[in-house]
Amino acid sequence: MRSIPIICRLEKPDGSSGPRLGRVEIEQTLAGGIGNAGRVVRVGDTVRRPWRPSTPATDAVLDRLAQVLPGVAPKPLGRDDQGREVLSWIDGDVGLPPFPAWVTSREFLISLGELLRRIHDALDGWSPPAGVRWGQELADPHGGPLIAHADICPENVIARDGRAVAVIDWEFAAPGRRIWDVVSTARLCVPFTAPSRRTAAYHGLDVRERLRTLVEAYRLSEPDRAAFAGVLDERRRVGERFVRGRVARREPAFVELWDNAEGEARLQVERGWVETVPVDVVTKVEDGERAALTCD
Ligand SMILES: Nc1ncnc2c1ncn2[C@@H]1O[C@H](COP(=O)(O)OP(=O)(O)OP(=O)(O)O)[C@@H](O)[C@H]1O
Ligand SMILES: [Mg+2]
Repeated sequence: MRSIPIICRLEKPDGSSGPRLGRVEIEQTLAGGIGNAGRVVRVGDTVRRPWRPSTPATDAVLDRLAQVLPGVAPKPLGRDDQGREVLSWIDGDVGLPPFPAWVTSREFLISLGELLRRIHDALDGWSPPAGVRWGQELADPHGGPLIAHADICPENVIARDGRAVAVIDWEFAAPGRRIWDVVSTARLCVPFTAPSRRTAAYHGLDVRERLRTLVEAYRLSEPDRAAFAGVLDERRRVGERFVRGRVARREPAFVELWDNAEGEARLQVERGWVETVPVDVVTKVEDGERAALTCD
């Protein structure tokens, strides 16, 4: 672990004090989250997060990825003396609201679709350890053959030179279907949450074209294309249940969001908006268009 040397005045055992060179672990609070806001910190080349009942399960996923696709997710490094999960720090940029321009670029979207595909391929067929507990809040209600991240949004992706290179924040990962992740990612990265919920950075973007771009970059299978609309509605319901659950538990960040943003009205808008998503673009992609949509 890299620690940051600083000159500091420390108490000596004899009670006197004086300047001397010490190695002090500086904790830097990381921005970007809601549920864990203020509790995810950087220490040197590591990140510390609260330990959860599902941490052994998600650490097993991260170990698997570290073995077969190093660099696409943080590496689990155990537990610190405060009982927190320790993960490797990944250098790069994270798009936080109000999003920088690269978050809305076609190149970022394509690289994200390709990255998600590589991660899924690496997890498909892998057997997680028996008996571990998975987070349930955003889990695919049908379960599935691989481990889905379930919460891919710009804040949970590391980019370099405007291209997605790693996915972080695996807290909600659980057994699921590929389509569960593709739909979740599309919802927040195309995005097609209700227009009122998009930040200014997304104004004026062509949702239709961006949705097409993402599913092509992922190389979504024909059966998953056919399932897209149904899964979109399932995902909306699960998201709604998640928010309502957190508000009911009086989690401060969610209560504040709910109150400030007229939560009930927003969920209503979201319900109506989901029906307007141009899902036909997912099912009808011509071969010629496929070729034209590759990035490099
Ligand atoms: N391993 C990492 N490497 C680089 N940056 C990281 C890493 N982990 C977290 N970060 C940064 O810290 C921010 C918050 O971390 P993380 O997403 O893990 O927790 P969180 O978003 O606060 O949790 P939640 O979304 O559940 O509230 C991220 O948006 C990212 O900017
Ligand atoms: Mg996060």
